[in-house]
Amino acid sequence: MSASAVNGVFEYLEQNRQRAEGELFELLRIPSISADSKFAGDVRRAADWMVEHLNGFGLEAELHETEGHPIVYAETAPVAGAPVVLVYGHYDVQPPDPLDLWITPPFEPTVRDGKVFARGATDDKGQMLTHVKSVEAWLATNKKLPVQVKLLIEGEEEVGSEHLESFLASNIEKLACDCVVISDTSQFAPGVPAITYGLRGIAYYEIHLTGPNRDLHSGVFGGAVTNPVNALSDMLSTIVDDAGRIQIPGFYDEVAPLTEQEREEFGALPFDEAEYCKQLEVDGTTGEAGYSTLERRWTRPSFDVHGIWGGYQGEGEKTVLPSHAAAKFSFRLVPNQDPEKITANLRAWLEKHVPTGIKMEIVESHRAPGVVFSLDSPYLQAAADAIEIGFGNRPVFIREGGSIPIVSTFADKLGADVLLLGWGQNDDNLHSPNEKFSLADFHHGISASAALWDRLATAHQNTK
Ligand code: BES
Ligand code: ZN
Repeated sequence: MSASAVNGVFEYLEQNRQRAEGELFELLRIPSISADSKFAGDVRRAADWMVEHLNGFGLEAELHETEGHPIVYAETAPVAGAPVVLVYGHYDVQPPDPLDLWITPPFEPTVRDGKVFARGATDDKGQMLTHVKSVEAWLATNKKLPVQVKLLIEGEEEVGSEHLESFLASNIEKLACDCVVISDTSQFAPGVPAITYGLRGIAYYEIHLTGPNRDLHSGVFGGAVTNPVNALSDMLSTIVDDAGRIQIPGFYDEVAPLTEQEREEFGALPFDEAEYCKQLEVDGTTGEAGYSTLERRWTRPSFDVHGIWGGYQGEGEKTVLPSHAAAKFSFRLVPNQDPEKITANLRAWLEKHVPTGIKMEIVESHRAPGVVFSLDSPYLQAAADAIEIGFGNRPVFIREGGSIPIVSTFADKLGADVLLLGWGQNDDNLHSPNEKFSLADFHHGISASAALWDRLATAHQNTK
C-alpha cells in the first residue's frame, strides 16, 4: 500500500471529525440495555442503526436474529494474499442505575472538557465505532482496504454472549480469520496506551433463601426462628477469609500461578497506589495477601456481591423478621479455572452452610473462562506500530480484570490470534454513573485503526 493511500485516509478522517462525533452521539442516544427486557425494542433499534450506518457507506450489512438480541455482521471485499481480520464489538450497554448520580442523563450524550458523557460511551459504542469509521475512511478514499475486515457486532456482551456462542459455532467458515481485533478494554493510563494479553473470566450467580412462610414480628419470633437476611450475610461471609482467600475447597487448584517475570513487568509499570486511592476516595486497597493491586486485579480470582435484598427498605423502622432474602454475586476467574467445577464446589460449600429453618436456591447465569495469550503473534508488533501512529506513544503490554465472554471461543474455535487494543481509560466510569469517553481517544482510536489495516497487511507479507 502506498504512503499516499494512507495519507488520503488521514486527510478524510481530519475532514470528517465532527460528523463522526455526531454519529457516535446518535448511537449513544439509543438506550440499548441488554439486561432489561423492557428495553428490547431499543436494543433492536441500536442494531438497526448499525445496519443502516454500515450500508450508508457501501457495505451490505446483515442483521441476524437470535433467540435474544440481534447480531450485526458486515464484511469488506477479500484481498488476495492479505490477512482476514475479524473485528468484534458490542452495541449493548449496562443498565444506567443509579440514575440520580448522573450529572447529565445517561442517554443524552453531553460533552464536557473534551469528553462525551453517556452510558456506552467507552463500553463499547465509542470504541467499537472507531473501527467502523476507519473502514469507512478507507472505502471513501481508496475504494478498498489493505486487508479483508469482517465486522461482528453483537447486542448481548453485557449479559454473557449466550447467543453469539451458538452463532459462532454454526458460522465458523463465514467468520474464518487470521486475527481478531477488539477494542473493549482500556489504556494503562492517559498517554500510556496498552495491548491487553489477558482477561479474567467470570461465574455469576443469584442466591435465594426462604425462611418462615411469611414475614414475622421480630419481637414475637426473633431469636427462635432463623432470619433469612441474617443467614444470607453469614453464608456470604464464609466465602472469603480475612486474608482475602476464597474458602471453597478446590477453588485454587487450577489457578495458573503468577510468574516472576510478570511480577517484574507489572512492577515496572507506572502505577501509583496513593493516586489510585485518592481518585476513588478510599483510605487504602484490600485483597488477597501477598499480591500487589495490579496482580490482584489482573491475575488473581475475586469474589463480589453485586446486589443484596430482603426485609424492609422503606422510610423509618419496621421490626420485621423477613421471610425471604437474596443476592447476586460473582467470582472473577483466572486462566485454567473451570467455571463448571467452581459452580459444583460452590453449591456444595453453600449447602454445608445453610442453617436450620432455611431453604436455598442457587440460579447460575453467565460464565466465561479467563484467558491469557502468548506474545509471539506476528500481528502484535503491527498493532503496536498502529497504536504509535494513532496515539503518539508505543503501547505497554498488560492484563486486565474485566471479562469479554466470547474471547476464549474466538481463540479456541477460530484458531485466530486475538488483539485486545483498548482505547478507553480506567476512570471512564464503565458500568458506573457518568460513563465517558475522551473524544481525543475516539479520534486517536480511529487513526490507529486506519493504520492497523495497512500494518497488518505488511506483517502478513513478512510471515511468508
Ligand atoms: N468492556 C468490558 C470488559 C472490560 C472492561 C475488560 C475493562 C477489561 C477492562 C465488557 O463490556 C464487560 O463489562 N463485560 C462484562 C461481562 C459479563 C457481564 C459477562 C464484565 O466484565 O462484567
Ligand atoms: Zn464492553
